[in-house]
Amino acid sequence: MATARKNTTRKASGTSTGARKTAAKKRASGSGSSSRAAAKKTTRRGQRPDALTLLKRDHDDVKKLFNRYERQKDDMSSGDKGEMVRVICGNLSVHAQIEEEIFYPALRNVADEDLDEMLDEAEVEHTGAKQLIAELQGAQPGDRLYDAKVTVLGEQVKHHAGEEEEQIFRKARRAKELNLEVLGEQLEARSTELKGELGLQ
Ligand SMILES: [Fe+2]
Ligand SMILES: [Fe+2]
Repeated sequence: MATARKNTTRKASGTSTGARKTAAKKRASGSGSSSRAAAKKTTRRGQRPDALTLLKRDHDDVKKLFNRYERQKDDMSSGDKGEMVRVICGNLSVHAQIEEEIFYPALRNVADEDLDEMLDEAEVEHTGAKQLIAELQGAQPGDRLYDAKVTVLGEQVKHHAGEEEEQIFRKARRAKELNLEVLGEQLEARSTELKGELGLQ
């Protein structure tokens, strides 16, 4: 988590808005013939998910973890609870970071006013989730409000993921300038890197 956050700060502070938009444009359009060629190859083979498929899969995976926590929380040992929350928080942090570093900037680059507002709200929701994640990472399973914090985080994440899929993904699908296959590759590569740093894979 610490490393993942540090990277966000470094990237955000070291890049101007203009530079970020340019970088996002290059990423979104898959600039570089090699990445474009790789995307075509993987798409043809049907082995790699595009950006929306990959992000939806993350949403579904973490929702399942929250549901499992709710079902089993009264029967789990403290150790098992702590480990499940570590995995939930780690995966959420990585997901938020790859969206903020790669997906949202690519969308900002092609956004109309509506999409800009949706992305603003999404970023604020990420900030709220990060606050609860930080509290849970500093807590122990026996602490007061621990289960309540997991429950509320799950509710917030489900709401956020639902809006993202219904509103933001719909806009992304219509944005012909976006290369969702290339974005999917970039998201997957960064996700693998960050999960490795957090010991999640
Ligand atoms: Fe998000
Ligand atoms: Fe998401």
